[in-house]
Amino acid sequence: MTRYFAVVPAAGSGTRMGKNMPKQYLPVVGKPVLQHVLESLVRIKCVERVVVALAPADPYWHKLEISGHPKIATTIGGRERADSVLNGLQALKAVAHEQDFVLVHDAARPCLRLEDALRLITTLAEDPVGGILALPSVDTLKEVEQSEIACTLDRRKIWRALTPQLFRYGLLLEALNAACQAGLQVTDESQAVERAGYKPKIIEGSPDNLKITRPEDLDLAEFYLQRR
Ligand code: CTP
Ligand code: MG
Repeated sequence: MTRYFAVVPAAGSGTRMGKNMPKQYLPVVGKPVLQHVLESLVRIKCVERVVVALAPADPYWHKLEISGHPKIATTIGGRERADSVLNGLQALKAVAHEQDFVLVHDAARPCLRLEDALRLITTLAEDPVGGILALPSVDTLKEVEQSEIACTLDRRKIWRALTPQLFRYGLLLEALNAACQAGLQVTDESQAVERAGYKPKIIEGSPDNLKITRPEDLDLAEFYLQRR
């Protein structure tokens, strides 16, 4: 039987946020962002274990209420997001088989809806590769070179990649390793998998699944969470 695991890259420092604490630990509706994230992941019944990749000597982790949860384990993150994900995958080596699924979700996306994660999982249950939550672009998109518009992109073909991203364990490990060895800085799992020659599936997500990046995003996340 296929088993499911999760990896949460949480080793970033949140430079664009510009706060005195990494954004995954900032409070939103009374709880740190990462607490929200992990609460939603442990609620997914089929996910056996959640590996969180932390910055070395992270002083905030043990203060997190959910840090002692039986499904949750930690590892040390790396220099880039992809390195942190790779470390998380390595930490699963003793338990995960090649054909098992791993769900990768950003530590900075506290508004994930359980139904979206479940739709991703059930839609891809028999898929040999995997896929991602994404959103069709609502704006008209321009390709810009040196402050001048070079062309307009075909909006119907443009989607914004979100997380979670769900892939077969062996395939993802190999693809990310290959991308890192080639010195390529992939910004999501799908990019590494695409580079390895696969075509990941797109599953439409929700617009409120935002990645907290800049200060104004905290207010937005608070608004979305409070409305539920
Ligand atoms: N991340 C990570 N390890 C890194 C860099 C990022 O685990 N070396 C994680 C972040 O903690 C976050 C996710 O990857 O959960 C998405 O990255 P991003 O939004 O870029 O977060 P930061 O790198 O922390 O923010 P910034 O780029 O503004 O510094
Ligand atoms: Mg970053």
